[in-house]
Amino acid sequence: MVCRVVVLVSGTGTLLQSLLESGAEPGAGFQVVAVGSERADAFGLERAERAGVPSFVVPMLADRAEWDRRLAAAVAQCRPDLIVSAGFMKLVGPAFLARFGGRFINSHPALLPSFPGMHGVRDALAAGVKVSGTTIFMVDEGVDTGHILAQRAVDVLPDDTEATLHERIKVVERELLVQVVNELAKESNV
Ligand code: GAR
Repeated sequence: MVCRVVVLVSGTGTLLQSLLESGAEPGAGFQVVAVGSERADAFGLERAERAGVPSFVVPMLADRAEWDRRLAAAVAQCRPDLIVSAGFMKLVGPAFLARFGGRFINSHPALLPSFPGMHGVRDALAAGVKVSGTTIFMVDEGVDTGHILAQRAVDVLPDDTEATLHERIKVVERELLVQVVNELAKESNV
């Protein structure tokens, strides 16, 4: 059986695009069965529609715990084997992790445990590191603290801006994320 993957996005969704394309290849070990977001205007939702994949939106609420429960319920409806946070810029809470802990992965644009949080690329540049990169990890209750599954390094160039460095990291990140999802799909034996 093919591993059912739900992807969560908040923005452009180029990582999602790589997963949609890889999962649609003949003989793929996984399939993106749904795309979710907290933002109705996330371009990733349009990518899902173009690919014929269903999507859902769970708008952020002042009551964060209630939002977390609603997000968990919406994801559960898709019967996922694996959930991928691909540029999903919200932290999930206890209800979501109780249901999906151990099968919820995230992709980060820096070499964790360095530069966690919302501005991994900017923070790495500000620190003056010569090498940064990307990390795929299992999400836990912390901020980018979960078990590291894979990492790839990317050189920081002398004239890099946040945008140029992030773009080069994302080239590597897309490939690595697809690789990790394929590996987890194989391991899950579904
Ligand atoms: C990716 O670089 C991802 O690592 C980052 O957002 C980008 C999404 O790109 N996520 C975070 O920074 C989470 N802390 P995309 O919208 O083009 O797929």
